[in-house]
Amino acid sequence: MGIEIKGYGKALPEMILTNKDMEKIIETDNQWIVDRTGIENRHVAIKETNLDLASEASLLALGDVDPQSIDLVIVSTITPDRLVPSMGSLLKMRLGLTNAVAFDLNAACSGFIFAAWTAEALMKHSNFKRALIVGAECLTKITNWEDRTTCVLFGDGAGAALMEENPDRPGILSSYIKNYDDPKDVLPCGIEYRKRPFDKEVTEAIDPMYISMKGQQVFKFAVNALDEVMEETINRANLTYDDIAFFVPHQANMRIINAAAQKTKQAIEKFQISIKDTGNVSSASVPMALYDLMQTGKVKKGDKIMLMGFGGGLSAGAMIYEV
Ligand code: ACO
Repeated sequence: MGIEIKGYGKALPEMILTNKDMEKIIETDNQWIVDRTGIENRHVAIKETNLDLASEASLLALGDVDPQSIDLVIVSTITPDRLVPSMGSLLKMRLGLTNAVAFDLNAACSGFIFAAWTAEALMKHSNFKRALIVGAECLTKITNWEDRTTCVLFGDGAGAALMEENPDRPGILSSYIKNYDDPKDVLPCGIEYRKRPFDKEVTEAIDPMYISMKGQQVFKFAVNALDEVMEETINRANLTYDDIAFFVPHQANMRIINAAAQKTKQAIEKFQISIKDTGNVSSASVPMALYDLMQTGKVKKGDKIMLMGFGGGLSAGAMIYEV
């Protein structure tokens, strides 16, 4: 029995912040950002909530599918609008997905792969037939706009995909997810809580409330972890990289994507590049890039696509499916 990925969606906030705009906020320059990352623009949610973005992307992914037929909703996010109800619950309510079980998942930038992996596992071991998986982020809300080493990187947006059981199609061929420890805190983001439960004062931040990153260490981790999860996933599917029609990597840095192309000896043209217009949108990056790939009209039935994520946790994962 195959679990297909079909139905794709993407939503970006209206406001665009260009590298030239960034030059007015911090000491940076367009060429540095383009050369080091490949990013030209990022979108910033000023009037949209994360739920608005998740809903817009989900509606595209669902298309004509009956909302009552969705059994499972998983929203991957590190920036939920609320802790309770979860983004999954809010999305279920807004879209009228009456029969769905819904919850959130946090695996940072690997989140969409973790969500797809979880949905596949649950579908195989339950009577769930249709799942909506979403990566939705408003990273600009947890970005330190005075830290030029991170604020040029991140943006907001959402991507979604519909997963469906189909006994006649192979669907997902293999997947692999992995967690690595982060003892040196190379990629932390704190949260605001009261320091002690009975304190009356305003909340205090534990650690920095913003994403901070030891860029070079994360870069090295990303290149190695990506290599490891891609290799494991290709072996599990008993395929070679030449069998893969398209690669859809997390959009963190163009140089990381180039490194993956070199390592696998695959043409860069086989890699979906969406980073230019969005920056790094954590768990929304992979489903948004997947949507972009599907829009190109290049993908044919029977093509094999590899999705790859890596990031905070530290975490990484990959999945291969047949269209
Ligand atoms: N504009 C201009 N100069 C800058 C900027 C900026 N925005 N940011 C840093 N610089 C300077 C630094 O100060 C440094 O100057 P110095 O040499 O005088 O000290 C110089 O540029 C080089 O800085 P590095 O940090 O060494 O730059 P690097 O080439 O490593 O690029 C980057 C930084 C883009 C962050 C890179 O390390 C990277 O992409 N890392 C991985 C990110 C990643 O994969 N994240 C995934 C997970 S994210 C998540 O989970 C939410």
